[in-house]
Amino acid sequence: MTDTTQTYKPVIHIMATSAEVDEMAANLVAKQVVEKPHSYLTLPTGQTPQGMYKLLVSKHINEKLDFSAVTIFNLDEYWPIKKFHEASYASYMKSNLIDHINIQKANWHIPNGEASDPAIEASHYETQLQGVSIDLAILGIGPGKTCHIGFNERGSTVDSESRYIKLDEETKKTNSVFFPNASDIPEGAITQGVADILRAKKIVLIAKGEGKAWGLHRSIYGPISADAPASFLRYHPHLTVIIDKAAARML
Ligand code: PGA
Repeated sequence: MTDTTQTYKPVIHIMATSAEVDEMAANLVAKQVVEKPHSYLTLPTGQTPQGMYKLLVSKHINEKLDFSAVTIFNLDEYWPIKKFHEASYASYMKSNLIDHINIQKANWHIPNGEASDPAIEASHYETQLQGVSIDLAILGIGPGKTCHIGFNERGSTVDSESRYIKLDEETKKTNSVFFPNASDIPEGAITQGVADILRAKKIVLIAKGEGKAWGLHRSIYGPISADAPASFLRYHPHLTVIIDKAAARML
């Protein structure tokens, strides 16, 4: 259970460029993996972390950063979607990270977008998550007014667990560009809940660009409530926010 009696101020790093966001985030992940080779990581998808993944792959190749004992739980996956559909998060993770590092494939977890029943799949994912202790969770934040983390859209509560959720219309609009036909984007997704995310020992939120400025301001300075799920992160004592200047415009 998340302690909601106390709130914390995040440590905020405003970087001059988005490349510096990538670098700082990649360095934090690398430090975690070096200090604890058996680390459990929660990782995001989307455009924001692509540079971070590039750097992690390069650290693996050039600096022998070793992922052989690391376990990864992804935040979310569309449902329904074919595992290797070009816009699935399974495909994203394979092409951005998994296929290029030495993680044991059994140690990479992502909800199955092909599961016949998303509620059963979500409850299976929740059981797996409850059995581990995540050392570090890297998150993005949703577009515009969504303030989503994972796919915890507006209305998600602080005690929410892994579940099937309908995508916010704003999320659908933003993410539909990654589908060959915009109308192909699934109506929903399976996501880790807010409570799952808050159980991580450390959380790092990364964001870039003006499109995240309102949501960051709302989540960091507005009321802590379900209409801005990222605001629940202020219940976490070890939250670091790494953003570029454009995303920090309203802070
Ligand atoms: P983005 O997605 O990195 O593509 O902006 C982030 C999110 O929706 O959480």
